[in-house]
Amino acid sequence: MDIVLSGIRPTGQLHLGNYFGALRNFVRMQYDAKCYFFIADYHSLTTHNDPAHLHENVKTVLAEYLAAGINPDIATVYVQSDVPQVAELSLLLGMHAYVGELERTASFKDKVRKNPNNVNAGLLTYPVLMAADILLHRATHVPVGKDQEQHLELTRVFARRFNNMYGVDFFPESMPYNFGSELVKIPGLDGTGKMGKSENNGIFLADSDEAIRKKVMRAVTDSGPTEPNSPLSEGVANIFAIMEAVSSPDTIAFFREKYATCEIRYGDLKKQLAEDIIKVVAPIRERIEAIKCDESYLRRVVRDGAEKARESADRTVAEVRRIMGIRPF
Ligand code: TRP
Repeated sequence: MDIVLSGIRPTGQLHLGNYFGALRNFVRMQYDAKCYFFIADYHSLTTHNDPAHLHENVKTVLAEYLAAGINPDIATVYVQSDVPQVAELSLLLGMHAYVGELERTASFKDKVRKNPNNVNAGLLTYPVLMAADILLHRATHVPVGKDQEQHLELTRVFARRFNNMYGVDFFPESMPYNFGSELVKIPGLDGTGKMGKSENNGIFLADSDEAIRKKVMRAVTDSGPTEPNSPLSEGVANIFAIMEAVSSPDTIAFFREKYATCEIRYGDLKKQLAEDIIKVVAPIRERIEAIKCDESYLRRVVRDGAEKARESADRTVAEVRRIMGIRPF
């Protein structure tokens, strides 16, 4: 059976792009594969050294995962730092990771360029820790975006090197998992690029109905089509793209027709879009609020998740120790 693993750094609230791009697919996948979903709090320390907010951020992401439909009785949901075996595996894998290959990673070079005063060792070994996350459960599939593909490639390099070096067939080659036709890319509201966390660009799963209406009404459009069937500007194309994810085919067809015949009123389009987004977000937001208040439920989820994750982690680390020659007296 496939073993699927995904990690997310706790760096704030999740938005509609996270939901349609990943979370909704995780919810479907959890019934078909053995799934591990974890919150990468160790990883977030490479750039966010903010002890006052770390715990709250972990709690937010956890509540949002659960509210979106991740079922902790089916999938293994845990916090990375609750499974310290990952630190040992990272240390052991680090023995066979070359500084040169880590320095050549695009994400590392990018961080060095943006933050020349904080080039810490954790940043350099970020891909080693990520490989440890994945190999800890010998995951076969890892759903990742483009920006993480190089890290996954390195994970395979480390796994292959380990297998070759010790003459074993222990670690799998963890493959990127692509949702294919199910993948929905959600653009932002500011007229360019994909949805992100900035205020005018993203709709958060925790946004109130009013906040959603306000953000959508402010979304970038243009002065309107002047000839029949004219091409869409990026802002308007983005609005239609979000509609594709949240609105009914009839609604989409109705507004496309209005656009094609130059009768469209962007105000009407946005009002409709806002209401259709609210239909998706409001029930999730209500669950987020309820779950966040239920401390004992959250405590139970992380405790059970850590226990399940540690079981699998213990097995892997024991075997890796044995293979590398670390043996009890
Ligand atoms: N590096 C990932 C990101 O920034 C987060 C992450 C950490 C991860 N460990 C992982 C993702 C293991 C997949 C598998 O998005």
